[in-house]
Amino acid sequence: MSLMAFDHAVIRVQDLDAARRWYCDWLGLIELAQDGDIVYLGCGGDEHFDLGLRAGSVGLDHMAFAVAGVPELEELHRQYSERGIACTAIERAPEPGIAAAFRLTVPTGQIFEVMARDGRTSYPHTTKWNPAAAHAPLDINHITFLADDVELPTRFYCEQLGFAFSDLLLPPDADNPWLFSFIRVGENHHDIAIVKGSVGNKLHHVAFLVNGVSEVVRFADRLGRFGWRIEAGVGRHGPGGNSFLYVRDPSGNRIEITADVARLPNRFESPRIWRGELSAVFNVWTEAPPPASFGDGT
Ligand SMILES: [Fe+2]
Repeated sequence: MSLMAFDHAVIRVQDLDAARRWYCDWLGLIELAQDGDIVYLGCGGDEHFDLGLRAGSVGLDHMAFAVAGVPELEELHRQYSERGIACTAIERAPEPGIAAAFRLTVPTGQIFEVMARDGRTSYPHTTKWNPAAAHAPLDINHITFLADDVELPTRFYCEQLGFAFSDLLLPPDADNPWLFSFIRVGENHHDIAIVKGSVGNKLHHVAFLVNGVSEVVRFADRLGRFGWRIEAGVGRHGPGGNSFLYVRDPSGNRIEITADVARLPNRFESPRIWRGELSAVFNVWTEAPPPASFGDGT
């Protein structure tokens, strides 16, 4: 009984209408539903929402991971509860297209939802992209957090929730704390990444997958055409091997557009260890460090 995939994130935005326009008109997402102060957006390949925008504040509202169905959800709820993890009761139809879900709080304070969809799993179909957009992401891909302590939450996800450990960046001096961890539930190289920060436990970015590095460049061009500046990239990361660009939405939430994320089929392998400073792995094309603003979270 295990988590199957990273399914969606709901983030907080200061101005719901400005955010809706930015994500739909510029990023190419499609509005699927609105429920009170939450707008649900999808990548367009299916009727499932990938990102929720919730009015008020900034940062993460919650992240959600899917299981195969309601029986699996009930079983996982039982297993987690037996381990002493405080879980809310299973709630029926909590969000559009979701049959049931429960939630827990991870050691870094974020809300982690486990949910079952009420229909078939799906796959992206580009004819269903937003027709007003030149192109759109294929799917939500991963979520990254800043944390005071990388090791503690990484161990919680792997030892308590069943994540597999993909890659780990350790500092040059082995006695110093972990710098960056990458963990997954399926084959996608990282569904969650946790990077050592100095601003508390915060959301660093939500990543969307596009169809190859040339599409990442086209997003950079598209944002430039709108007069919106990207924060970092285009480049290629060491761990995961993915190409990237980072951009902040109108509220300051950081979004990554990424492609070529590695697939790791063997969940029983031990993590690949990288050693060095963040600059050594952030962009393997240049080994230049990320911009100073990259240490900010929301
Ligand atoms: Fe990322």
